[in-house]
Amino acid sequence: MHVKDSAPWWRSAVIYQIYIRSFADQNGDGVGDIAGIRSRLPYLRDLGVDAVWITPWYPSPMVDAGYDVADYTGIDPLFGSVADAEALIREAHDHGLRVITDIVPNHTSDRHPWFQAALAAAPGGPARDRYVFRPGRGSGGELPPNDWRSVFGGSAWTRLPDGEWYLHLFAKEQPDLNWESPDVRRDFEDVLAFWFDRGVDGFRIDVAHGLIKQEGMPDLGADGEDVLEPTKRIDHPHWDRDGVHDIYRAWRRVADGYTGERTFVAEAWVAGPGRLARYVRPEELHTAFNFDFLRAPWDAGGLRAVIDTTLEALGSAGAPATWVLSNHDVVRHVTRYGRPHTEGHGPRHDVREPLDLGLGTRRARAAALLMLALPGGAYVYQGEELGLPEAEDIPETLLQDPVWERSGHRVRGRDGCRVPLPWSGDAPPYGFGPDGASPWLPQPETWKEFTAEAQAGDSGSMLDLYRAALRLRREHPALGDGGLRWQTAPEGVLLFSRSPGFACAVNLSGTPYEPPADSEVLLASGPLDGGSLPPDTAAWITVND
Ligand code: NOJ
Repeated sequence: MHVKDSAPWWRSAVIYQIYIRSFADQNGDGVGDIAGIRSRLPYLRDLGVDAVWITPWYPSPMVDAGYDVADYTGIDPLFGSVADAEALIREAHDHGLRVITDIVPNHTSDRHPWFQAALAAAPGGPARDRYVFRPGRGSGGELPPNDWRSVFGGSAWTRLPDGEWYLHLFAKEQPDLNWESPDVRRDFEDVLAFWFDRGVDGFRIDVAHGLIKQEGMPDLGADGEDVLEPTKRIDHPHWDRDGVHDIYRAWRRVADGYTGERTFVAEAWVAGPGRLARYVRPEELHTAFNFDFLRAPWDAGGLRAVIDTTLEALGSAGAPATWVLSNHDVVRHVTRYGRPHTEGHGPRHDVREPLDLGLGTRRARAAALLMLALPGGAYVYQGEELGLPEAEDIPETLLQDPVWERSGHRVRGRDGCRVPLPWSGDAPPYGFGPDGASPWLPQPETWKEFTAEAQAGDSGSMLDLYRAALRLRREHPALGDGGLRWQTAPEGVLLFSRSPGFACAVNLSGTPYEPPADSEVLLASGPLDGGSLPPDTAAWITVND
């Protein structure tokens, strides 16, 4: 048994993100479902991931694709039933896969019974205390209580006919909860227990940095962020307030009351690794997404700086790093890396810049080997193992993301990374659902070459690269949790070793790179030129420790 086998699973897990609406549609209504996931568990097992994270499956009016939850202990009929979820959890476990679900504590749907009760109550009534209601400013209260802005665009406040305003940091159908309320705290601990009792292995915490608002709710001032952009500010009135940490200490106690290493991962867009490390202190959450890695440019210096600051900051909290390149909120990285400006995560990604998908794909292949060689855990967003590019030509009339409307048609939003997966065949719906079913977002005509069926067994395909890398990662004692050592390399080349006997080289320079003479190539992201790595190519190699 390797040392890594005795460490908790979440310190080195590769977790596959299932965006449930777009993964697999068994009943043919155009939207993915639990039955679809169950039918594809063997695919995930064979891919070689350790766990799945499933995006919200709860009853929801779907204003924000399920991140507007109307009942935290139910399943939306669109996706199945609680019994289906239980069956999925059991079957995943039988395949050796853990299951993480999404919890959305910053806000509910406006259809949640808590908000409906708050609406029915008079201003100042106790039912309103679960949310953030305030009188307006101006002589008649006609101005919002402050200048806070919705992440999706526009004011973060909506006024009710009775004159009070309520806060929503996202869509107006997503009222923010008041985490100063003991009822809110108790109810969410009950929700955690409900799903832990049903066997889930952990939770991904949505907007983990948003729950506590500064007392007095002061104005943001002129430096309000742009739509979907994370904050760079530390003393922000509604992001990353110190008070959130009490909540997570209490949640950790709930998780620790269960057997089987239940875990949390925080979605916290905060100002750098130092702030992120506060979420993963020993008595708080286990891990947090590393968005700085995702936002880093395709550039050796930029990537190395993020890797170093991440490992240092999280390591000093005793927590493992996580590495992530894509998710359902950002432009797919094949596309990000195919444009001249590779930095940032893409809501404002400039589609007018020329796109070279061949280049983006080569870099994405190299990035996969980099990510999977780094110490800690990693996330794979569904479809990245197929090399899917962003769908940038969805007709405006079909866009579903609330960002499109709320930004006044300035930002198209996130639909381009949420298009249903192509599994097989040569025409839509490409096996996503039964023939004739029409997916909730249109799939590009060009996707027949991206299907899992077309790629399986093709040694040059993205799918085969991910399978090979994940297989090696499982077998090789140097990979997963642990540390790394940088080795001397020419400018523009990242070279680090991990014990025993492993190194990863990534050539981000414009010229070929010759790996150390006595090394042997275990896996490369693209064809080698003689013994050397062409630009935008990575390799896993053997080295002497
Ligand atoms: C983050 C989620 O990933 C995103 O999809 C959602 O719109 C917001 N949180 C609001 O819940």
